[in-house]
Amino acid sequence: PKEVIKVLVTGAAGQIGYSLLYMVANGDIFGHDQPLDLVMLDIEPMMGVLEGVAMELNDCAFTTLRSVVATADEKTGFSGIDAALLVGAMPRKAGMERKDLLAANVRIFKSQGKALDQFAKKTVKVIVVGNPANTNAGIAAKYAPSIPTRNFSAMTRLDQNRAQHQIAAKCGVTIQDVSGVIVWGNHSSTQFPDVSHAKVNKGGKSLAVYAACNDDAWLKGDFIKTVQSRGAAVIAARKLSSAMSAAKACADHMRDWFQGTKHGHHVSMAVPSDGSYGVPAGLIYSFPVTIENREWKIVQGLEINDFGREKMKVTADELAQERADALAVCQE
Ligand code: NAI
Repeated sequence: PKEVIKVLVTGAAGQIGYSLLYMVANGDIFGHDQPLDLVMLDIEPMMGVLEGVAMELNDCAFTTLRSVVATADEKTGFSGIDAALLVGAMPRKAGMERKDLLAANVRIFKSQGKALDQFAKKTVKVIVVGNPANTNAGIAAKYAPSIPTRNFSAMTRLDQNRAQHQIAAKCGVTIQDVSGVIVWGNHSSTQFPDVSHAKVNKGGKSLAVYAACNDDAWLKGDFIKTVQSRGAAVIAARKLSSAMSAAKACADHMRDWFQGTKHGHHVSMAVPSDGSYGVPAGLIYSFPVTIENREWKIVQGLEINDFGREKMKVTADELAQERADALAVCQE
C-alpha cells in the first residue's frame, strides 16, 4: 500500500474550498489509490463553519480520506505536509484600494512562508490560488529559504482552461480537440493567452488554431480580452466570483504536478522564472511546462513573434512592479 500523504488546504471555509475539498478527498488529484490526511486551515471566526465542512467530508465516506483536521493554527496546519493548496486570502472589500489588498495578502503569505519553512516537509509542493497569486507565491518562497524555490507555484490553469473553451467553442470542436494553449505571465488582466502554438483536431486533421479559426482579428482581439476579463464576467452574472472552475483548475494543476503531463503535452503554471524567454529571473511567471517525476520543466525554443513578445513584456513589467510593492510591505 502507498504511504499516506498529508495535504493542506487554506481558506477551506471559503467558496473555492467547498468545491476543492471534494476533489482532494475523493482522489481526483493525488490518485484514487493514494490515502491522505487532510488539514484545513482558516481564520478563527470560521472554525464553526469549518467543523461543518469536516462533518460533510467524513459523511462522504471517501475511501482515500484517512483523517480530517480543521484548525486556525499555522503550526498544526503546516506540520509535515506534502502539498499546500494556498487558497485563503483576504477578499477585496468595498472601498478598498488595490494596494491595501496587496498589503493585507502579502502579510498572510509572509507568515505562511515562514510556517512552510519551519514545519512542512522540504519536498512540499505549493500552489497559491489566493490573489495576487503570482506575487503571493514569490513572497511565500522568499520566507521559506529552506525549501527549494521551484516547489512554489501560482495558478494560471483557470486562464488556460478558459482559453481552451473559447477556442473549442469558436471552432466547433470538443475540449479534447484543443491542445497547446499557453498562458504567459500574471494571473491578472495583463495575462497573455497565446494560441500561436496551439492545435485543433478538426475533420480528422490537426490544424494550427489560426488556420482552424480563420479569424485573426478575433484571435488577436476579443479572444484575448474575453479570457483576460472572464473573472469579472462571472462575478457580474453570478454575483459571486468563480469558485467551481477555480477549484477544478487547482485540481488540474496539482494532479499534473504529482502525476505528470501526458507525453507531448504542456500545461501552464506560474513558476519562478530562470530567465527563459527573456522573463526576468525570479519573477513568478506563467510558462508552458512539462512535468515528470514531480519536476516541471519550462518548454524551450518556442518561436515568439513581435505581437507575443510585446504582450509578454507588459505582463512581466506588471509582475516586477507588484513584487516591488510587496517587498516594500515586507520591510514595514
Ligand atoms: P472566499 O472569500 O470565499 O474564501 C476565502 C477564505 O480564506 C475565507 O474562508 C477566509 O476566512 C479565508 N482566509 C482569509 N485569511 C486567511 C488566512 N490568513 N489563513 C487561512 N484562511 C484565510 O474566497 P474564494 O472565492 O474561495 O477565493 C479565494 C481566493 O482565490 C481569492 O483571493 C480569489 O481572488 C482567488 N482566486 C484566484 C483565482 C486564480 O485563478 N488564481 C481564481 C479565482 C479566485
